[in-house]
Amino acid sequence: MTLIFGHRGAAGTFPENTMPSFQEAARLGADGIELDVQMTKDGTVVVIHDETVDRTTNGSGAVLDYTYDELSKLDASHTFSEKTGFCTIPTLEEVLHWLSKTELLINIEFKNNKQKYRGLEEEVITLVRKYGLESRTVFSSFSQTSIMKCRELAPDIETALLYKFGVRIPWLYAKRLGVSAIHPNYKYIAAPVIWLTLLNNIAVRPYTVNDEESLRKLGKLGISAVITDYPDRAVRILREN
Ligand code: G3P
Ligand code: CA
Repeated sequence: MTLIFGHRGAAGTFPENTMPSFQEAARLGADGIELDVQMTKDGTVVVIHDETVDRTTNGSGAVLDYTYDELSKLDASHTFSEKTGFCTIPTLEEVLHWLSKTELLINIEFKNNKQKYRGLEEEVITLVRKYGLESRTVFSSFSQTSIMKCRELAPDIETALLYKFGVRIPWLYAKRLGVSAIHPNYKYIAAPVIWLTLLNNIAVRPYTVNDEESLRKLGKLGISAVITDYPDRAVRILREN
């Protein structure tokens, strides 16, 4: 069965990476959620996609220049605010606490790319362990350094190679890195590559698949999971039989 991960929650209809968005993804029938983590000046792991707060909140500037107390005053409802009213940038702990009371899976993407957050991986692993979510968690990152650090610090927690394009033989690359899944951009991965990767026992979870035709096509190829802004659409198409 192809699992469904709500991208930044249910980002197609709710403010991305907020508690209402994650709760909506669960309500719509997603099997899991995907989210992005960054770090504040005082070392709190927060759930926000960009390195700055400009696009998704009413504030401006780098996440790393805010203390958590300052950051928590910003309104992250931005898009779709009519549905939620004011809502905060959640801490990862807040999300994990809620998630631990559900049966959802979680894909935590480390945004440790341009910005180098010292201790981000260590802190995230500590939180995942605190809530006993090791078996429900997948770590991913565009940063190979970040992924290798997770592999080293927490070999019991699944890791996935996240990439847009340019990885020609992903199952070999995944095996070399010791990860058990790839999270490719769905636009740049061909059907034979998906088959061969699955045949090599590497899970394939493309992102961010929103249109019906692609959802249907990828579902027929037997992908392990899909990461989508519209979990309800994916549920309808992938579970239609
Ligand atoms: O993890 C899949 C996807 O979220 C990666 O791209 O930019 O949406 O974080 P982005
Ligand atoms: Ca992401």
